Amino acid sequence: MAGYTDRAFRSVCAQWGADLCFTEMVSAEALSRGSRKTLRLLEREPNETVTGFQIFASDPRAAAAAVRLITRLAPRVIDLNCGCSVPKVLKTGCGAALMRQPALIREIVTAMRQETDVPVSVKLRTGWDAATPTFLECAALAVCAGASLVSLHPRFRTQGFTGAAQWPLIAELKRACAVPVFGSGDLFTAADCLGMLETTGCDGVMVARGALGNPFIFREVAALCAAGRPGPDGAPPGPSAAERLDTALRHLRLLALAKGEETACREMRKHYVAYTRGMRGGAALRQQVVQARTLSDYERLTAEFLGAGA
Ligand SMILES: Cc1cc2nc3c(=O)[nH]c(=O)nc-3n(C[C@H](O)[C@H](O)[C@H](O)COP(=O)(O)O)c2cc1C
Repeated sequence: MAGYTDRAFRSVCAQWGADLCFTEMVSAEALSRGSRKTLRLLEREPNETVTGFQIFASDPRAAAAAVRLITRLAPRVIDLNCGCSVPKVLKTGCGAALMRQPALIREIVTAMRQETDVPVSVKLRTGWDAATPTFLECAALAVCAGASLVSLHPRFRTQGFTGAAQWPLIAELKRACAVPVFGSGDLFTAADCLGMLETTGCDGVMVARGALGNPFIFREVAALCAAGRPGPDGAPPGPSAAERLDTALRHLRLLALAKGEETACREMRKHYVAYTRGMRGGAALRQQVVQARTLSDYERLTAEFLGAGA
Protein backbone atom coordinates (compact mmCIF):
# COMPACT_ATOMS: atom_id res chain seq x y z
CA MET A 1 0.00 0.00 0.00
CA ALA A 2 1.47 3.29 -1.15
CA GLY A 3 2.15 5.55 1.82
CA TYR A 4 2.01 2.65 4.29
CA THR A 5 3.98 -0.46 3.43
CA ASP A 6 7.44 1.00 3.85
CA ARG A 7 10.31 -1.06 5.26
CA ALA A 8 9.30 -0.43 8.88
CA PHE A 9 5.72 -1.59 8.45
CA ARG A 10 6.70 -4.55 6.27
CA SER A 11 9.23 -5.62 8.89
CA VAL A 12 6.55 -5.60 11.56
CA CYS A 13 4.21 -7.60 9.30
CA ALA A 14 6.99 -10.13 8.63
CA GLN A 15 7.61 -10.38 12.38
CA TRP A 16 3.94 -11.26 12.87
CA GLY A 17 3.96 -13.94 10.20
CA ALA A 18 3.26 -12.39 6.78
CA ASP A 19 4.63 -14.89 4.25
CA LEU A 20 5.26 -12.32 1.52
CA CYS A 21 5.23 -8.54 1.71
CA PHE A 22 5.09 -6.15 -1.22
CA THR A 23 6.83 -2.82 -1.44
CA GLU A 24 4.77 0.26 -2.09
CA MET A 25 4.34 0.63 -5.83
CA VAL A 26 7.31 2.41 -7.39
CA SER A 27 7.42 4.29 -10.67
CA ALA A 28 9.33 2.38 -13.35
CA GLU A 29 10.08 5.70 -15.07
CA ALA A 30 11.58 7.19 -11.92
CA LEU A 31 13.59 4.03 -11.23
CA SER A 32 14.92 3.94 -14.76
CA ARG A 33 16.07 7.57 -14.30
CA GLY A 34 17.85 6.55 -11.10
CA SER A 35 15.68 8.68 -8.79
CA ARG A 36 17.23 8.42 -5.32
CA LYS A 37 13.88 8.97 -3.61
CA THR A 38 12.40 6.05 -5.54
CA LEU A 39 15.43 3.83 -4.92
CA ARG A 40 14.97 4.36 -1.18
CA LEU A 41 11.49 2.80 -1.43
CA LEU A 42 13.21 -0.46 -2.36
CA GLU A 43 15.30 -0.70 0.81
CA ARG A 44 14.48 -3.52 3.22
CA GLU A 45 14.91 -4.49 6.85
CA PRO A 46 17.03 -7.57 7.61
CA ASN A 47 14.04 -9.72 8.62
CA GLU A 48 12.35 -9.11 5.25
CA THR A 49 13.41 -12.22 3.45
CA VAL A 50 10.48 -12.68 1.08
CA THR A 51 9.69 -9.47 -0.77
CA GLY A 52 7.64 -8.65 -3.81
CA PHE A 53 8.55 -5.42 -5.57
CA GLN A 54 5.73 -3.66 -7.35
CA ILE A 55 6.21 -1.25 -10.23
CA PHE A 56 3.78 0.94 -12.10
CA ALA A 57 4.52 1.55 -15.74
CA SER A 58 2.95 2.27 -19.10
CA ASP A 59 6.13 2.04 -21.15
CA PRO A 60 7.60 -1.44 -21.69
CA ARG A 61 11.14 -0.04 -21.94
CA ALA A 62 10.90 1.73 -18.59
CA ALA A 63 9.41 -1.42 -17.06
CA ALA A 64 12.31 -3.47 -18.42
CA ALA A 65 14.87 -1.03 -17.03
CA ALA A 66 13.18 -1.10 -13.64
CA VAL A 67 13.11 -4.89 -13.62
CA ARG A 68 16.80 -5.05 -14.48
CA LEU A 69 17.57 -2.96 -11.43
CA ILE A 70 15.15 -4.74 -9.08
CA THR A 71 16.44 -8.17 -10.08
CA ARG A 72 19.74 -7.35 -8.35
CA LEU A 73 17.85 -7.04 -5.06
CA ALA A 74 16.86 -10.73 -4.90
CA PRO A 75 13.10 -10.25 -5.10
CA ARG A 76 10.71 -13.19 -4.74
CA VAL A 77 8.42 -11.70 -7.38
CA ILE A 78 8.14 -8.49 -9.41
CA ASP A 79 4.59 -7.23 -9.83
CA LEU A 80 3.02 -4.90 -12.38
CA ASN A 81 0.35 -2.66 -10.87
CA CYS A 82 -2.79 -2.59 -13.03
CA GLY A 83 -5.09 -1.47 -10.24
CA CYS A 84 -4.12 1.92 -8.87
CA SER A 85 -7.00 4.39 -9.22
CA VAL A 86 -5.19 7.58 -8.14
CA PRO A 87 -5.69 10.30 -10.82
CA LYS A 88 -1.98 11.26 -10.87
CA VAL A 89 -1.07 7.67 -11.77
CA LEU A 90 -3.96 7.19 -14.23
CA LYS A 91 -2.94 10.37 -16.08
CA THR A 92 0.34 8.71 -17.04
CA GLY A 93 -1.48 5.67 -18.45
CA CYS A 94 -0.36 3.52 -15.49
CA GLY A 95 -2.23 1.57 -12.81
CA ALA A 96 -5.87 0.81 -13.58
CA ALA A 97 -5.55 2.68 -16.91
CA LEU A 98 -3.90 -0.54 -18.14
CA MET A 99 -7.19 -2.39 -17.63
CA ARG A 100 -8.36 -0.57 -20.78
CA GLN A 101 -5.29 -1.72 -22.69
CA PRO A 102 -4.92 -5.49 -22.33
CA ALA A 103 -2.46 -5.65 -25.24
CA LEU A 104 -0.21 -3.16 -23.49
CA ILE A 105 -0.23 -5.35 -20.36
CA ARG A 106 1.00 -8.18 -22.57
CA GLU A 107 3.77 -5.97 -23.99
CA ILE A 108 4.90 -4.77 -20.60
CA VAL A 109 4.92 -8.26 -19.07
CA THR A 110 6.86 -9.56 -22.07
CA ALA A 111 9.44 -6.81 -21.60
CA MET A 112 9.68 -7.56 -17.88
CA ARG A 113 10.11 -11.30 -18.45
CA GLN A 114 12.87 -10.72 -20.99
CA GLU A 115 14.92 -8.97 -18.32
CA THR A 116 14.68 -11.46 -15.49
CA ASP A 117 14.32 -15.04 -14.31
CA VAL A 118 12.44 -13.78 -11.26
CA PRO A 119 8.70 -14.58 -11.41
CA VAL A 120 6.61 -11.71 -12.75
CA SER A 121 3.03 -11.11 -11.61
CA VAL A 122 0.21 -8.68 -12.34
CA LYS A 123 -2.27 -7.13 -9.95
CA LEU A 124 -5.60 -6.45 -11.64
CA ARG A 125 -8.88 -4.76 -10.90
CA THR A 126 -12.13 -6.01 -12.44
CA GLY A 127 -11.84 -3.41 -15.17
CA TRP A 128 -11.97 0.30 -15.85
CA ASP A 129 -15.73 0.58 -15.29
CA ALA A 130 -18.80 -1.63 -15.13
CA ALA A 131 -19.11 -1.56 -18.93
CA THR A 132 -15.61 -3.03 -19.36
CA PRO A 133 -14.89 -5.99 -17.08
CA THR A 134 -11.59 -6.85 -18.77
CA PHE A 135 -9.90 -8.83 -15.99
CA LEU A 136 -10.15 -12.24 -17.68
CA GLU A 137 -8.71 -10.93 -20.91
CA CYS A 138 -5.95 -9.02 -19.12
CA ALA A 139 -5.08 -12.09 -17.04
CA ALA A 140 -4.98 -14.37 -20.08
CA LEU A 141 -2.67 -12.02 -21.99
CA ALA A 142 -0.42 -11.52 -18.97
CA VAL A 143 -0.11 -15.30 -18.53
CA CYS A 144 0.60 -15.74 -22.26
CA ALA A 145 3.39 -13.20 -21.87
CA GLY A 146 4.89 -15.18 -18.99
CA ALA A 147 3.25 -13.97 -15.77
CA SER A 148 3.53 -16.64 -13.06
CA LEU A 149 0.86 -15.24 -10.74
CA VAL A 150 -2.22 -13.07 -11.13
CA SER A 151 -3.90 -11.24 -8.30
CA LEU A 152 -7.28 -9.57 -8.40
CA HIS A 153 -8.88 -6.78 -6.41
CA PRO A 154 -12.43 -7.27 -7.69
CA ARG A 155 -13.62 -3.69 -7.84
CA PHE A 156 -13.80 -1.47 -10.91
CA ARG A 157 -11.51 1.55 -11.15
CA THR A 158 -14.61 3.74 -10.88
CA GLN A 159 -15.38 2.23 -7.47
CA GLY A 160 -12.10 3.16 -5.84
CA PHE A 161 -12.48 1.38 -2.51
CA THR A 162 -16.27 1.74 -2.21
CA GLY A 163 -18.88 -1.01 -2.35
CA ALA A 164 -18.11 -4.62 -1.64
CA ALA A 165 -15.29 -6.47 -3.37
CA GLN A 166 -16.88 -9.07 -5.67
CA TRP A 167 -15.21 -12.24 -4.42
CA PRO A 168 -17.06 -14.50 -6.91
CA LEU A 169 -14.95 -12.88 -9.64
CA ILE A 170 -11.83 -14.21 -7.91
CA ALA A 171 -13.35 -17.69 -8.18
CA GLU A 172 -14.08 -17.02 -11.86
CA LEU A 173 -10.48 -15.97 -12.46
CA LYS A 174 -9.19 -19.00 -10.58
CA ARG A 175 -11.24 -21.31 -12.80
CA ALA A 176 -9.98 -19.58 -15.95
CA CYS A 177 -6.34 -19.13 -15.04
CA ALA A 178 -3.51 -21.62 -15.53
CA VAL A 179 -1.26 -19.95 -12.91
CA PRO A 180 -1.84 -19.32 -9.20
CA VAL A 181 -4.37 -16.63 -8.32
CA PHE A 182 -4.28 -14.39 -5.25
CA GLY A 183 -7.34 -12.52 -4.02
CA SER A 184 -7.59 -9.05 -2.52
CA GLY A 185 -10.49 -7.05 -1.14
CA ASP A 186 -12.28 -6.61 2.19
CA LEU A 187 -9.95 -8.82 4.25
CA PHE A 188 -10.27 -7.33 7.72
CA THR A 189 -10.12 -10.43 9.92
CA ALA A 190 -8.45 -13.82 9.82
CA ALA A 191 -11.87 -15.36 9.26
CA ASP A 192 -12.31 -13.14 6.17
CA CYS A 193 -9.02 -14.51 4.81
CA LEU A 194 -10.05 -18.11 5.32
CA GLY A 195 -13.47 -17.29 3.90
CA MET A 196 -11.92 -15.96 0.71
CA LEU A 197 -9.62 -18.96 0.37
CA GLU A 198 -12.50 -21.38 0.86
CA THR A 199 -15.21 -19.68 -1.18
CA THR A 200 -13.07 -18.73 -4.17
CA GLY A 201 -10.49 -21.53 -4.27
CA CYS A 202 -7.75 -18.93 -4.72
CA ASP A 203 -4.15 -19.81 -3.90
CA GLY A 204 -3.33 -16.92 -1.62
CA VAL A 205 -4.83 -13.83 -0.04
CA MET A 206 -3.41 -10.33 0.11
CA VAL A 207 -4.29 -8.35 3.21
CA ALA A 208 -4.27 -4.57 2.69
CA ARG A 209 -6.26 -2.16 4.91
CA GLY A 210 -6.90 -4.98 7.36
CA ALA A 211 -3.21 -4.98 8.34
CA LEU A 212 -3.14 -1.29 9.26
CA GLY A 213 -2.55 -1.19 13.00
CA ASN A 214 -3.19 -4.92 12.95
CA PRO A 215 -0.15 -6.83 11.69
CA PHE A 216 -1.31 -9.49 14.18
CA ILE A 217 -3.79 -10.59 11.51
CA PHE A 218 -1.01 -12.63 9.87
CA ARG A 219 -0.42 -14.69 13.01
CA GLU A 220 -4.17 -15.19 13.31
CA VAL A 221 -4.52 -16.35 9.70
CA ALA A 222 -1.68 -18.84 10.19
CA ALA A 223 -3.35 -20.17 13.35
CA LEU A 224 -6.71 -20.50 11.63
CA CYS A 225 -5.16 -22.28 8.66
CA ALA A 226 -3.41 -24.67 11.04
CA ALA A 227 -6.70 -25.30 12.85
CA GLY A 228 -8.23 -25.95 9.44
CA ARG A 229 -11.43 -24.11 10.04
CA PRO A 230 -12.74 -20.56 10.41
CA GLY A 231 -14.33 -19.50 13.67
CA PRO A 232 -13.23 -18.04 16.97
CA ASP A 233 -12.08 -21.36 18.44
CA GLY A 234 -9.21 -21.74 15.96
CA ALA A 235 -7.75 -18.25 16.24
CA PRO A 236 -5.45 -17.18 19.05
CA PRO A 237 -6.81 -14.48 21.34
CA GLY A 238 -6.43 -10.98 19.89
CA PRO A 239 -3.42 -8.94 20.98
CA SER A 240 -3.51 -7.16 24.34
CA ALA A 241 -3.18 -3.37 24.52
CA ALA A 242 0.43 -3.83 25.69
CA GLU A 243 1.22 -6.10 22.74
CA ARG A 244 -0.35 -3.64 20.31
CA LEU A 245 1.51 -0.65 21.68
CA ASP A 246 4.77 -2.54 21.98
CA THR A 247 4.52 -3.36 18.28
CA ALA A 248 3.58 0.25 17.50
CA LEU A 249 6.73 1.45 19.28
CA ARG A 250 8.91 -1.07 17.43
CA HIS A 251 7.32 0.16 14.20
CA LEU A 252 8.11 3.76 15.18
CA ARG A 253 11.76 2.98 16.07
CA LEU A 254 12.29 1.27 12.70
CA LEU A 255 10.65 4.21 10.97
CA ALA A 256 12.96 6.61 12.80
CA LEU A 257 16.06 4.66 11.76
CA ALA A 258 14.88 4.68 8.14
CA LYS A 259 13.51 8.21 7.82
CA GLY A 260 14.77 10.21 10.78
CA GLU A 261 12.98 10.95 14.04
CA GLU A 262 10.98 13.99 12.95
CA THR A 263 9.51 12.39 9.82
CA ALA A 264 8.90 9.12 11.65
CA CYS A 265 6.99 10.81 14.47
CA ARG A 266 4.84 12.65 11.97
CA GLU A 267 4.17 9.60 9.77
CA MET A 268 3.53 7.41 12.80
CA ARG A 269 0.40 9.33 13.77
CA LYS A 270 -1.76 7.64 11.16
CA HIS A 271 -0.41 4.23 12.20
CA TYR A 272 -0.92 5.00 15.89
CA VAL A 273 -4.55 5.86 15.20
CA ALA A 274 -4.88 2.41 13.63
CA TYR A 275 -2.98 0.58 16.40
CA THR A 276 -5.21 2.12 19.08
CA ARG A 277 -8.53 1.75 17.26
CA GLY A 278 -11.12 0.08 19.46
CA MET A 279 -8.81 0.25 22.52
CA ARG A 280 -10.39 1.35 25.77
CA GLY A 281 -9.18 4.91 26.41
CA GLY A 282 -7.64 4.98 22.93
CA ALA A 283 -9.35 8.23 21.88
CA ALA A 284 -7.57 10.23 24.59
CA LEU A 285 -4.23 8.65 23.67
CA ARG A 286 -4.76 9.53 20.01
CA GLN A 287 -5.44 13.15 20.91
CA GLN A 288 -2.19 13.35 22.84
CA VAL A 289 -0.15 11.65 20.16
CA VAL A 290 -0.99 14.46 17.72
CA GLN A 291 1.41 16.57 19.84
CA ALA A 292 4.19 13.94 19.92
CA ARG A 293 7.36 15.23 18.24
CA THR A 294 9.99 12.79 19.49
CA LEU A 295 10.44 9.11 20.17
CA SER A 296 10.51 9.81 23.87
CA ASP A 297 7.17 11.66 23.61
CA TYR A 298 5.63 8.50 22.14
CA GLU A 299 7.33 6.28 24.73
CA ARG A 300 6.19 8.46 27.63
CA LEU A 301 2.57 8.69 26.40
CA THR A 302 2.47 4.93 25.85
CA ALA A 303 3.91 4.15 29.28
CA GLU A 304 1.45 6.56 30.95
CA PHE A 305 -1.44 4.98 29.06
CA LEU A 306 -0.46 1.44 29.99
CA GLY A 307 0.38 2.50 33.56
CA ALA A 308 -3.13 3.92 33.87
CA GLY A 309 -4.36 0.35 33.52
CA ALA A 310 -5.64 0.22 29.93
C1 LIG B 1 -3.84 3.62 1.03
C2 LIG B 1 -3.82 2.51 0.04
C3 LIG B 1 -2.71 2.35 -0.79
C4 LIG B 1 -2.68 1.30 -1.71
N1 LIG B 1 -1.58 1.16 -2.49
C5 LIG B 1 -1.49 0.10 -3.34
C6 LIG B 1 -0.31 -0.15 -4.09
O1 LIG B 1 0.69 0.59 -4.01
N2 LIG B 1 -0.32 -1.23 -4.91
C7 LIG B 1 -1.39 -2.08 -5.02
O2 LIG B 1 -1.34 -3.07 -5.75
N3 LIG B 1 -2.51 -1.86 -4.32
C8 LIG B 1 -2.58 -0.81 -3.49
N4 LIG B 1 -3.72 -0.62 -2.75
C9 LIG B 1 -4.86 -1.56 -2.92
C10 LIG B 1 -4.74 -2.72 -1.96
O3 LIG B 1 -3.60 -3.49 -2.24
C11 LIG B 1 -5.96 -3.65 -2.01
O4 LIG B 1 -6.03 -4.28 -3.27
C12 LIG B 1 -7.25 -2.92 -1.75
O5 LIG B 1 -7.12 -2.01 -0.67
C13 LIG B 1 -8.39 -3.90 -1.44
O6 LIG B 1 -8.09 -4.65 -0.31
P1 LIG B 1 -8.76 -4.31 1.14
O7 LIG B 1 -10.23 -4.05 0.88
O8 LIG B 1 -8.51 -5.56 1.94
O9 LIG B 1 -8.07 -3.08 1.66
C14 LIG B 1 -3.77 0.41 -1.83
C15 LIG B 1 -4.88 0.57 -0.99
C16 LIG B 1 -4.92 1.60 -0.07
C17 LIG B 1 -6.12 1.74 0.82
